[in-house]
Amino acid sequence: MKIRIVGLNCSPRTESNSAAILDKSVEMANAKLGGAIDFERVNLRECKFDACLACGVCGKRKDREEFMPCVQHDDLDAVMEKLVAADGIVVATPVYFGLPSDLFSKFIMRTRYLRHQDFKLANKAVAVMAIAGRRSGGAETTIISTWLPFIRHGCLIVGNGDQTCQFGTMGWAGPSGQILTDDWGMEQAEQTMRRVYEVASLVKAGTGTLNHQCPMRFSYQAGTR
Ligand SMILES: Cc1cc2nc3c(=O)[nH]c(=O)nc-3n(C[C@H](O)[C@H](O)[C@H](O)COP(=O)(O)O)c2cc1C
Repeated sequence: MKIRIVGLNCSPRTESNSAAILDKSVEMANAKLGGAIDFERVNLRECKFDACLACGVCGKRKDREEFMPCVQHDDLDAVMEKLVAADGIVVATPVYFGLPSDLFSKFIMRTRYLRHQDFKLANKAVAVMAIAGRRSGGAETTIISTWLPFIRHGCLIVGNGDQTCQFGTMGWAGPSGQILTDDWGMEQAEQTMRRVYEVASLVKAGTGTLNHQCPMRFSYQAGTR
């Protein structure tokens, strides 16, 4: 079964470690999976977009159940379509002060309307690859922080599965491209990619077999008492 995975490259650098780890890990995973992953890398640095305006227009209208798009139309329109069409998402981000990049944060806030439109990203398998210049430089805190918005989206968070079952991928690299020499990081990345593939395959097969319709509905009232 072909599984569509979007790799979100959240580095502002050209020839970044984040881009390299995505491309190499999918190549390694596909070598084991017979090319079953249909992969597309989205480079946020190339997308022109502004921050969420918090205008409250997008999502679902409060007076009637009508979905509203974001008031801003820019390069993110196409990115959101790719995310909705994907079976799995792998986020690769540099570690910045123990957190994902500001580019990731600016991007993820713009995805809010997908959540308010009855959880359009629900049940997608999501994993994180964090690349830090230092050992103990904050890769784990970055991974966990990156998970949080996807949990709010109703996604299925996965780690690297194979053997160590850790929290995803902790890459160790400074200069551009150095990640490819981090054998342990690359091993985790390949495992992470395959784990996203595995869970996304199960969801896709189960959804088809059961003719499953996601029951998740966004409500402005839920969680307000
Ligand atoms: C603003 C900034 C903050 C950073 N903060 C950290 C940090 O907290 N811990 C760390 O280990 N490395 C830190 N680094 C180093 C990057 O995470 C590292 O160079 C990484 O390989 C960059 O990945 P990229 O090539 O995908 O952008 C920081 C780099 C920058 C530019």
